[in-house]
Amino acid sequence: MDKKNLYISTIGCQMNVHDSEQMAALMEKEGYVCTDDVGQADLILLNTCSIREKAAQKVMSTLGRYRRLKTKKASLIIGVGGCVAQQLGERLLLKVPDLDLVFGTHNIHRLPEFISEIEKTGKKIVETSLSEKTPSLGILTPPRKSKVTAFVTIMQGCNNFCAYCVVPYLRGREESRPLEDILEEIAGLARSGVKEVTLLGQNVNSYGRSTKGATGFVELLSEIEKIEGIKRIRFTTSHPKDISDSLIEAFSQLGKLCKHIHLPVQSGSDRILSLMNRRYTKNDYLEKVEKLRRSCPEISISSDVIVGFPGETDGDFQETIDMMEEIRFDTLFSFKYSERQGTAALKMEGKVSEPLKKERLRILQSLQELHTLEKNKAMEGHIEQVLVEGFSKNCRSDVMGRTSTNKIVNFTGHGDLVGTIVPVRIKEAYLRSLRGEML
Ligand code: SAH
Ligand code: SF4
Ligand code: F3S
Repeated sequence: MDKKNLYISTIGCQMNVHDSEQMAALMEKEGYVCTDDVGQADLILLNTCSIREKAAQKVMSTLGRYRRLKTKKASLIIGVGGCVAQQLGERLLLKVPDLDLVFGTHNIHRLPEFISEIEKTGKKIVETSLSEKTPSLGILTPPRKSKVTAFVTIMQGCNNFCAYCVVPYLRGREESRPLEDILEEIAGLARSGVKEVTLLGQNVNSYGRSTKGATGFVELLSEIEKIEGIKRIRFTTSHPKDISDSLIEAFSQLGKLCKHIHLPVQSGSDRILSLMNRRYTKNDYLEKVEKLRRSCPEISISSDVIVGFPGETDGDFQETIDMMEEIRFDTLFSFKYSERQGTAALKMEGKVSEPLKKERLRILQSLQELHTLEKNKAMEGHIEQVLVEGFSKNCRSDVMGRTSTNKIVNFTGHGDLVGTIVPVRIKEAYLRSLRGEML
């Protein structure tokens, strides 16, 4: 049999990146080989995101390009997975008629079956049932190639229903993966050479809550801490309302837990937080930050903010700015509010105009640049333990790695450092990375 080429394109969050890895691994088992050249593909999979309008639009423009390839290769199969597929299902076929496959976020494990059916019959398939047991919840596939860092799904779905967010509709209800499965997967990753795992979930703090008699998130972390070969543990994302004191203490007690937390705040205005259904106040958030810094003074804190949520006044926006000044995040991901189908915010009054959203985003991002640079500059002269992940992007004589606080460091070094943790003196700090010198 001729080898067949698979091209996967991924838009969206780390969960999608991880799902794409699973798709690749599943199809490799069926004899497909991954290619970076879409022109060579026999099968194209587009893994999509619907978190904001822009991400969803990108799907349509990308599909437009792929469709043209069919005129050259009639046997080309094009499939769309992920959150836009979940959202539109059958409707996606109407919009893009020469698609072959639309599969949802809970149907990934059936991909080989779908493709084989399409190859045999040429029929189109749409499967977006959310009731299927999650693909990424079982141990789907072993690691494909030797890697230093790996993602591990510990839970799927979300029960929070923040007023702006589509995720609960597209990823289903919250469900935690059994502890033993997770530990088994991580032990396997460690045996294959992985040194750092990032635990994935929309709200990792509520790990175990949906399972009767199950262990909680901190217990899970403590168990992973014992796994030989794993040197670092990260996790994302945390919901501020669910961060427990024991998790805060874990940052000072678990040696492998990295000193970084991504804790999306969304807004600094209590009125907006309440409209967003976030279920914490600005003071609750400030208190958590203070406790985290007391438990672990070096901890770096990153966050997400939305500007222009319906009803956001200049005063509300100013409260977000004031909160940023008070906290000084290490990094901040900021977004203009984007209307999403089916969400509660869609019907809210007080829509903020596009130019005003743009202006608020600009103000917020330039303030954050100052803070990020200030934080990074403060590291100059420090010695940091860096886990080397690979070569630097632009220069083969340099390697790149991360500090425990999740800052990227580039320094001159050999490829055989990959996978080791080395002491590096920080010489120069920039906005997005640090330059260092190995000791
Ligand atoms: N589960 C994670 C985040 C998921 S989405 C959490 O709760 O933290 C990542 C970020 O996208 C969110 O934190 C939010 O800041 C942003 N986001 C989500 N929906 C959005 C929307 N409709 N418009 C703009 N930004 C949005
Ligand atoms: Fe969306 Fe809120 Fe759930 Fe995060 S916690 S995925 S923002 S609904
Ligand atoms: Fe996007 Fe779905 Fe992730 S909407 S952010 S790919 S959960």
